[in-house]
Amino acid sequence: MILFASETYAATAAALRSAIAQLRLGRFHVARFENGELHLAVETPSTNEHCVILGSIGPPDQQLLSTLLLAHTLKKEGASKVTAVLPYLGYARHDKDKPGESLTTAWVGSLVKASGCDQVITVDVHSEKTKRLFPVPVVSLSSAGVFAEAIAQYGLARATVVAPDEGAIGRCEAVKTAAGMAPGKVPYFEKHRTEAGIIHAGPIGEVGGQAVIVDDILDTGGTLVSACEKLSTAGVDEINVMVTHGLFTGTRWKDLYRFGVKRIFCTDSVPLPVGMDGDGIVRLSILPLLAKKLFAIDKK
Ligand code: R5P
Repeated sequence: MILFASETYAATAAALRSAIAQLRLGRFHVARFENGELHLAVETPSTNEHCVILGSIGPPDQQLLSTLLLAHTLKKEGASKVTAVLPYLGYARHDKDKPGESLTTAWVGSLVKASGCDQVITVDVHSEKTKRLFPVPVVSLSSAGVFAEAIAQYGLARATVVAPDEGAIGRCEAVKTAAGMAPGKVPYFEKHRTEAGIIHAGPIGEVGGQAVIVDDILDTGGTLVSACEKLSTAGVDEINVMVTHGLFTGTRWKDLYRFGVKRIFCTDSVPLPVGMDGDGIVRLSILPLLAKKLFAIDKK
């Protein structure tokens, strides 16, 4: 098995290489012509090899295109199989079929297949619908165990785990189970996106003085800021945020600290934006998750 990692994932690739004896690291080069068009060259022979591409789809367009071009080139060169390991699967949120609007998740899925990827491995995929819209198998690894370790390490086992919307309830239940927390219904919010922004109703269910709010993505932070404001009004005085994919777009998310957020835990599925110092942010590694999965694939 040969692993081809984008530059951002060079350190992760090296760590995976140390963890999995049979894994070799492949080399490739991506460049742009002066007019911006992409050019890619694979330097490691891939004929009859199972090739694994590692790199999240963020920033979206640049990473998506280079991932697709790499898959296409590897297959053209005779790779027997291409597995795309995309810890953050960009465009997965665009999974709702609304008249006249693009169903972008399905479009990305078609491109992934057409480019030669045989399967996708991601972490905490946005929804089951996302998986169904992809014409190749999508395996979603759960970060619940990673968050459970942080809950134990930071003494949060007695906090109430809260879902910022109904879609996050399942993730919260998985984290509670992995952390061995007391059973019971997960308090949640009803979320509506309006032209004026996000409107949250709730919390629906009991919240105590300390909460852990769990979501898959922190993009602008709008969802979590609105939910944390409500939690703060409901009397929660310490909130910890746990998100799988910390995109930290813009500055809105900084308002979280105004509403009692003590720490933001996020995995290293995507790099922090350039220039961000990471204050108040606890990064959790998904390396063990990826290593375990790749080790199992390699053994097959
Ligand atoms: C939405 O359904 C997702 O699970 C996240 O809650 C959302 O994408 C986060 O985006 P933002 O941080 O911009 O509110």
